[in-house]
Amino acid sequence: MNRGKFITFEGIDGAGKSSHIAGVADFLRARGKTVVSTREPGGTALGEKLRELLLHETMHLETEAMLMFAARREHLAQVIEPALARGDWVICDRFSDATYAYQGGGRGLDKGKFAQLEQWVHGHLQPDLTLLFDLPLSVASGRIAAQARELDRFEQERADFHERVRQAYLERAAAAPQRIRVIDADQSLEKIKNLVEETVTNIC
Ligand code: TYD
Repeated sequence: MNRGKFITFEGIDGAGKSSHIAGVADFLRARGKTVVSTREPGGTALGEKLRELLLHETMHLETEAMLMFAARREHLAQVIEPALARGDWVICDRFSDATYAYQGGGRGLDKGKFAQLEQWVHGHLQPDLTLLFDLPLSVASGRIAAQARELDRFEQERADFHERVRQAYLERAAAAPQRIRVIDADQSLEKIKNLVEETVTNIC
């Protein structure tokens, strides 16, 4: 049995990736793939409890980073690795690039430490493809403001935090252009959908 493929979705809050994740799952299922759709932080019973804490409780910044990797360890063991081994495709809303972008870029923590944790938690496994939804901060924050709901700890951060997150994502994309494909998310849903499907088709 061939190992399945692992696709991750990234971007600043309000980049609109969530609306395209369901579309990619449908697109792949229509091509005969079995798809597991999941998210981080979360994706397991324990991970969802950690997500609740991460999104709403104040904590030391390094605790935040380590809990992201702890939730990821559980997620890999319970969900991602078994699915890939079965030959399923895994599509995941955020993964380790988000830790580099948010805890590294946004919070300013030492990215060298994440490289060690990353090696420990999934040194043997990287996504086959990462779609980075990129758009100007002003557009993203306008979208969040229009949603009129309670914001989590990350969404409540100031504009300069999100600008650093965006830059850190773009730096990671520049360093790994084969894996991370930047999608211009400041265009019509239809155009983005086409671009996303074209990119995913390349690894089918
Ligand atoms: P997100 O995935 O955007 O969910 P929703 O669409 O429901 O708002 O929210 C998760 C938040 O967690 C997001 O603001 C980014 C943050 N995050 C990190 O800071 N580091 C990480 O490693 C991960 C996976 C997420």
